[in-house]
Amino acid sequence: MLSVPRLRARRSLASIAVLTSGGDAPGMNAAIRAVVRYAIAHGIEVHGVLRGYSGLIEDSMEPLGAASVANIIQHGGTILKTARSREFLRRAARRAAARNLRARGIEALVVIGGEGSFAGALRLHAETGIAVAGVPATIDNDIAGTEETIGFDTAVNTAVEAIDRIRDTASAHERIFLVEVMGRTSGFIAAHVGIAGGAETILVPERAQSLARVCAAIERGARRGKTSSIIVVAEAGRPGRSAQLARDLARRGYPARVCILGHTQRGGVPSARDRLLGSVLGASAVEALRAGRTSVMAGVQRGRVALVPLARAIGRRRAFPPGPLELAATLAI
Ligand code: F6P
Repeated sequence: MLSVPRLRARRSLASIAVLTSGGDAPGMNAAIRAVVRYAIAHGIEVHGVLRGYSGLIEDSMEPLGAASVANIIQHGGTILKTARSREFLRRAARRAAARNLRARGIEALVVIGGEGSFAGALRLHAETGIAVAGVPATIDNDIAGTEETIGFDTAVNTAVEAIDRIRDTASAHERIFLVEVMGRTSGFIAAHVGIAGGAETILVPERAQSLARVCAAIERGARRGKTSSIIVVAEAGRPGRSAQLARDLARRGYPARVCILGHTQRGGVPSARDRLLGSVLGASAVEALRAGRTSVMAGVQRGRVALVPLARAIGRRRAFPPGPLELAATLAI
């Protein structure tokens, strides 16, 4: 089981802030709760920043007590709201954010979010000296330096449940279905959902797959007596792309129905795994700051919590392994 690393406290922190940034992910509330309660348990006050970096620039923050995070662990979304702040890309905005933090006596910031949010945190630290720690949260599970991100497990389970339902109707009508799942630049959701849902074909952004090969896979299945087929398609930054694929398949004589799962994967009750991840990684980020560490992400490596330099998580994506697609193809015969 994942556990919080025990580090020697080297810094007496009086006050920290926490924010959620970028796309929300189920389990973010568990991470907020852990940051707040772990900090309070160690004599540190916590402010919650509203709407990510926008709230930091606009000085929109409020003190959070242990009771203010009661009954949130089981809810998706984020009680702090979230945003993708373009304003924070400006140096002047980051300076204003640091002024707002210092005016309240806040010495360090925990950022719960993805790669873009960590890039902002790193700049904030480099330019203003505010200590920062990251907690990886995105349903895409594509952050370099960590094997897991908060929200992925719930998103995968949501999509698999949808596929189970779709398979019933696909089988009844003997149809081909394209099920589009999220994943801006990565196929982790599609690969996991495809294998767990028993999909016939999985299309991910990391591997180009020609229309001819997709048709050949459908044809192979049909020759073996399959009368229905589920093709999982990663959105790949082009939400709705499966509609075009359906038109292309229809022209080749394979009419297909399309189901775009979209933002349904971002909401809902977080799985136990995501609650556990949020709890352990949130607490670990505070532990890192107490130990005088800055600009690190509390991630998972080889099944254990690791404090990874934020710089390692930025500017690259977690590599997509070849194994899952091969396994899916083998199991779909
Ligand atoms: O990064 C998480 C994610 O859900 C991606 O899978 C998706 O491409 C993107 O966010 C959608 O963002 P938005 O909520 O802004 O439409």
